[in-house]
Amino acid sequence: MPAWPVLDTLETDRLILRRRRVEEADVYRRLWTERDPRVPAHRRIDAAGRPTVEDIADWIRSEREDPRPGVLAVERKCAGDVIGYCGLVFHGNGVPDEPELAFELLRRAQGFGYATEAGGAVVAWATAAGCERLWATVWAWNVASRRVLEKLGFHETGQVEVDATHGDNLLTVRSVTSPA
Ligand SMILES: CC(C)(COP(=O)(O)OP(=O)(O)OC[C@H]1O[C@@H](n2cnc3c(N)ncnc32)[C@H](O)[C@@H]1OP(=O)(O)O)[C@@H](O)C(=O)NCCC(=O)NCCS
Repeated sequence: MPAWPVLDTLETDRLILRRRRVEEADVYRRLWTERDPRVPAHRRIDAAGRPTVEDIADWIRSEREDPRPGVLAVERKCAGDVIGYCGLVFHGNGVPDEPELAFELLRRAQGFGYATEAGGAVVAWATAAGCERLWATVWAWNVASRRVLEKLGFHETGQVEVDATHGDNLLTVRSVTSPA
């Protein structure tokens, strides 16, 4: 993968995807509070209330220093409200520089096709940028996310991280350069 172009703003029929802003950190913290109890503890609010809104605001500030594409705020055109995030993250599945597709929406905005719409815009952007493969891991119990990934052309590889506490974690991939 050559140098990534800047991922700044994407537009779909109903959504604007754009850089996250410090002043909307409370929305991203709400996502943490709404997570399923089966999500591992390090991805949930701890007993001390961390991450706080300020912690998340700091993460958003540091995102600006990373030149690679990241996650974008998902804003509804109709209401002008931020309902979650969608984008790319680089924390490695063993293949250097291969990004994971990530998305998460507030509960009140689920069930309207927004995740598929936002994810489709990010996949299209990655295709145009020349990225050959995207991946995503998903809990076996997370049927909504598995369905979104399926609709976006990801397929389950059969690679499973067995976890008796949180549920099995499935690796899915999508070849960006070939049709879904
Ligand atoms: C996963 C998530 C982003 C989906 O958002 P969304 O906007 O509701 O998704 P969409 O409406 O685009 O598509 C959801 C699909 O899952 C299906 N679905 C949802 N809940 C379901 C259930 N309990 N059983 C079966 N199918 C279900 C919907 O019917 C829809 O499929 P369809 O279009 O074929 O009818 C949202 O549920 C979320 O944020 N979950 C928590 C965070 C998360 O799981 N992130 C992804 C980590 S891999």
